[in-house]
Amino acid sequence: MARNKIALIGAGQIGGTLAHLAGIRELGEVVLFDVVDGVPQGKALDLSQSAPVEGFSPKFKGANEYADIKDADVVIVTAGVPRKPGMSRDDLIEINLKVMEQVGAGLRKYAPEAFVICVTNPLDAMVWALQKTSGLPRNKVVGMAGVLDSARFRYFLSEEFDVSPQDIHTMVLGGHGDTMVPLIRYSSVAGIPLADLVKMRWITQKRLDEIVQRTRDGGAEIVGLLKTGSAFYAPAAAALDMAESYLNDKKRVLPAAAYLNGEYGVKGIYAGVPVIISAKGVERVIELDLSSAEKDALMHSVQAVKSLVEICQRIAPNLA
Ligand code: APR
Repeated sequence: MARNKIALIGAGQIGGTLAHLAGIRELGEVVLFDVVDGVPQGKALDLSQSAPVEGFSPKFKGANEYADIKDADVVIVTAGVPRKPGMSRDDLIEINLKVMEQVGAGLRKYAPEAFVICVTNPLDAMVWALQKTSGLPRNKVVGMAGVLDSARFRYFLSEEFDVSPQDIHTMVLGGHGDTMVPLIRYSSVAGIPLADLVKMRWITQKRLDEIVQRTRDGGAEIVGLLKTGSAFYAPAAAALDMAESYLNDKKRVLPAAAYLNGEYGVKGIYAGVPVIISAKGVERVIELDLSSAEKDALMHSVQAVKSLVEICQRIAPNLA
């Protein structure tokens, strides 16, 4: 049986981690693509040499030509620049928009059938730009943010309750930025709603609010510590979960930046919502029944995404 082909556009911190995880999980043949000559080739060789120790059969290739991603089943895009301390994700827009134009052209030519997961920031605007520049179907181009933001929320809650993060479910909606909406009402520990845990005195509402805020600032906290770049282990793990759901038709229900065509009253942009990812791509956008406060918070976040998309349209009017 032919192996799946996974192309990683950007062989930096996230790209390298993605390749390692894809190898260990035996997801398929991995092509690492980068504009820098030598880096993807060096990482491919290093990763191949980890295989005898880890115990998997490797197939890694480093590339500087888009032709090498030909007929990829999944493409994960991390090409671009990450933020440094003091920068917001939005500060990256101009540089990374140009990168999305190049990547989109490569996808259009060599991997038009692929399921594409964008990780490059500012996420919701870059995934919008990537869909436009590639011309791929909207349900085959998604952005990875919700799985990561939810994982951060889960981890912080697991620390607070001193229980396994595996038994914690959370849902984070909206844009991948300061306005994201961690949904307390749709989050639980082994099915016990967080509101009940407040009543059970496992946590106070004040502490819960602090954890929600720490989740929103989760990326910045890591940038502040690393100083030279942004998070990469958790983003890579999160993107790979989405890829696996597509490749194995798992139909996972995951929060992702999906194209909205009227759902939640939003049209024509990407924003974080729960979706079902199957072999068809985004098979369905799930519309949650939101309270008016939750709706307001989501609309505030959607507005922030719209402003970024408008900046993209000003820089590249052909994308409008
Ligand atoms: N085409 C392909 N690769 C590119 C291009 C391009 N036009 N421009 C830059 N790159 C490559 C860089 O050479 C680098 O190897 O993208 C890689 C980015 O890697 P890192 O700088 O290590 O960044 P990383 O931490 O992996 O984050 C990548 O994901 O989470 C987001 O904010 C983050 O936008 C950033 C992206």
